Parts: sequence; structure tokens; C-alpha cells
Amino acid sequence: MNRIVLLGPPGAGKGTQAKRLSQELGIAHLSTGEMLRSAAAQGTELGRRADGFMSQGQLVPDDLVLGILRDRLRLPDTGRGFVLDGYPRNVAQAESLTEITPIDHVLYFEIPESVLVERLSQRRNCPTCGTVYNLVTQPPRVADRCDRDGTPLVQRSDDSEEAVRTRLGVYREVTLPLLDLYRRQGRLRTVPASGTVDEVAARVRAALQ
Ligand code: AP5
Repeated sequence: MNRIVLLGPPGAGKGTQAKRLSQELGIAHLSTGEMLRSAAAQGTELGRRADGFMSQGQLVPDDLVLGILRDRLRLPDTGRGFVLDGYPRNVAQAESLTEITPIDHVLYFEIPESVLVERLSQRRNCPTCGTVYNLVTQPPRVADRCDRDGTPLVQRSDDSEEAVRTRLGVYREVTLPLLDLYRRQGRLRTVPASGTVDEVAARVRAALQ
């Protein structure tokens, strides 16, 4: 079974590669960030609570995220496997994850911080269909418009310089220790995440063999 966890800092390309893997392998793409952004856009109680943490670049409290992930894992499209992008983010979340589902692969996207900052500053998103662009590496065909539906592209509120700094700090402090945890379990595979999207995709496929 392909139950895959992607670990890595903000901007490492987890979402980009998770979408590809989900299409190639016919498995579900579970992004806790997208679930939380969608709840915030719909103005649900959970979304309102999550939004303040997200826009500042802080983690949303564990119980809120675990609740939406648990509900999502119950949907039938996860039956053939899934690629989990954005969870776990700390040791407590990793422990909760083992209680709700087995995991087959843990891939760590390794990348220099300078590349991340550049990628995040150039990222733009379609608020209608969620397609992710990069003004330098994956630009839309028409400036600032989504290729699929023509919607004006937006920048995520947590891609501001200040929020990115906070997210990188949170990553170093609470998410990086997960690498040791999974390494000790003998499950961690490192994927160099610099290079083009196609190059990284080839490394991901090799790591899953
Ligand atoms: P989340 O949405 O998970 O954000 P993140 O982990 O910070 O990761 P990003 O989405 O920023 O980056 P990515 O690695 O997916 O890169 P992407 O493929 O887009 O979380 C957001 C927030 O939600 C958190 O800060 C927190 O508040 C909350 N949250 C989520 N999960 C949580 C949890 N478990 N617990 C608590 N809180 C949680 O690529 C980035 C850019 O680079 C794009 O422009 C892309 O086009 C481009 N790009 C991608 N790959 C390449 C490449 N190979 N070459 C050139 N450009 C590339």
C-alpha cells in the first residue's frame, strides 16, 4: 500500500510533488494546510480559529488539526493509499498519526533555506481552483491569471516575509526533530528537493521503489 508522508520545510515543494504523486499513483492527496485554508475560506468555526495562527506562520493547535485529518482519513478515496502533505509537524502529531493509520513511506525533502525563501516569495495561488504557480519557475500563461479559469492570482497571507521567517523558525524548532524520530525507526528517505519539478519527481519515484 502507498501511505506516504512528505516532510520538509515550507516551500520545499511538498504540495507540488504530492499532487503529482496522487495523480500518478491514484491515491488521495491530504494536505492539512489546504484543509485549514478551505475551512477558513468557508468561515467555519474551525477555520476562524485556525486562520489567526496560519496567517502569522504559527502552527494550528494539534487537536484542531488531528480532528480534520481523522475525518478526512475516513473518506473512501483513501482506501488505495494517500500522500500526506503537512502532517505530522511535531512529535505529538507523529504519535497521534501512528494511532490513526499505518504509514509505509516517509520522505524528507532536503533543500537549502535560500531556495525556499526565493520560491515562497514568487508563489501565487488561484483562489478558485487552488492551482499553485511560481512567477519564475512555473508562471501562468497570462500574467497574474489562472491558466484554468482566468481568476486573478493571489499571494498566500503566510507568504509575507515576516510570516515566512516565523514558519522557518517553527519548522527548525518543532518539525526538524521528527527527522531523528523517523530515522531511528529506519523509515526516513531523503530526497534532494532542489532542481526542477521533474527532477525532484524522478527522485521521489526512486525513493519509493
Ligand atoms: P502548509 O500549507 O502545509 O504549508 P507549508 O508546509 O509551510 O508548505 P508550503 O505549502 O508553503 O510549501 P510546499 O512545500 O508545499 O511547497 P509548494 O509545492 O507549494 O501549512 C500552512 C499553515 O497551515 C502552517 O503554517 C500552519 O499554520 C497550518 N498547518 C498545516 N498543517 C498543520 C499541522 N499539521 N499542524 C499545525 N498547523 C498546520 O512549492 C512552493 C513554491 O515553489 C511554488 O511556487 C511552486 O510552484 C514552486 N516549486 C515547487 N517545486 C519546485 C521546483 N522543483 N523548482 C522550482 N520551483 C518549485
